[in-house]
Amino acid sequence: MKRIFCLLLLFAMPVLAEESAPSVTIYKNPSCGCCGAWAKHLQDAGFSRLESQPVMDMTATRRALGMPEIHASCHTARIGRYLVEGHVPAADIKRLLKERPDAIGLAVPGMPMGSPGMEGGQAEAYDTLLILRDGSARVFQHHAGSKD
Ligand code: CU
Ligand code: CU
Repeated sequence: MKRIFCLLLLFAMPVLAEESAPSVTIYKNPSCGCCGAWAKHLQDAGFSRLESQPVMDMTATRRALGMPEIHASCHTARIGRYLVEGHVPAADIKRLLKERPDAIGLAVPGMPMGSPGMEGGQAEAYDTLLILRDGSARVFQHHAGSKD
């Protein structure tokens, strides 16, 4: 009997892992199309608990949340204890949540063509930055463009 219970637990585990994917709150201007496309990218990657907060003044919101303005893009998301600024690929967020560095979060400043939610044109090379507690940044993941 005990053994069967253990087996059941084993099968239930992947489901539990899926359910424990952290919820995502996206602060964005309601009329931002590329923000919506990025949200869709996250959903497709398994972030099923997604909530949008309509914001008119992103600069004030960024300041209130604690994302330095020099790393600004079009939207700011709160995922677990981290902030994610701009069109950050879901794979980078998953790595962040796995490695759990002591940091504010991730940012892709500006809106590079070819980043998730910014598809359509010629893909540029860009970096996902890890934003440290003092506001400084270091490269977390490089993303090659279509030219390199
Ligand atoms: Cu955007
Ligand atoms: Cu956006």
